[in-house]
Amino acid sequence: MVTPHTTSGIGNTSFAQFDRAMPYPSYAKMSEDDMRALYAFLMKGLAPVSQANKPAEMRWPFSMRWGLSLWNWAFLDDAPFTPDANQDVVWNRGAYLVQSLGHCGACHTPRGLAFQEKAMSDAGPAGKHFLAGETVESWHAYSLRNLWTVEDTALLLKTGQNSFTTVSGNMAEVIHNSTQHFTDADLTSPTWKMASWCTRCSARYATARTAKA
Ligand code: HEC
Repeated sequence: MVTPHTTSGIGNTSFAQFDRAMPYPSYAKMSEDDMRALYAFLMKGLAPVSQANKPAEMRWPFSMRWGLSLWNWAFLDDAPFTPDANQDVVWNRGAYLVQSLGHCGACHTPRGLAFQEKAMSDAGPAGKHFLAGETVESWHAYSLRNLWTVEDTALLLKTGQNSFTTVSGNMAEVIHNSTQHFTDADLTSPTWKMASWCTRCSARYATARTAKA
């Protein structure tokens, strides 16, 4: 848990320290404004809680803190978000949300040998791996490429259900803690990006369901 308490938490952490301490690839894509908003929320929006740190619950390789800096050095794609000049503002807002704040790729992008996400966006030769499906904590997060229409996907991210499926597993937590709070404009926007890939939605969907059964 993150708390702004001065001894149990990050109460004495400056913005610069906080910004550098965010080790996860998705945060590298966050805009400075959003990073400041996140910092302000954690410092001012949460009540300080005094509590000793719980023993780390994460399993290897996440439990190896010293390993993280080595990992960052070797694998962290810390390129900031770059809008695609061939796409419009809506598409690029969607791409930004999916790649940074949504960290959708953390579960939906296949990982390589060192557990790094194989792609942090759909740019470049590795781009075909972005959101192409991965198994995390024994749940399979389906490929989000060639998914449903914007409306169907937005409905799922808002409510956890649409006419194709009801989500379960850790995607239910993602919706509960995160995507249900997106504004309608933003919700349509990340899915806009997915929907722009949607050339054969129903065919892909049938294949995924058969594979799951
Ligand atoms: C913590 C891991 C995790 C994260 C982060 C995550 N997902 Fe998922 N997602 C899953 C899992 C697991 C499933 C499959 C759930 C099931 O079997 O019902 C899933 C399913 C989905 C589905 C339904 C796909 C289908 O064919 O049924 C959509 C759409 C989706 N996720 C979108 C997103 C988007 C957009 C984001 C980023 C805002 C995101 N997910 C972030 C784990 C995750």
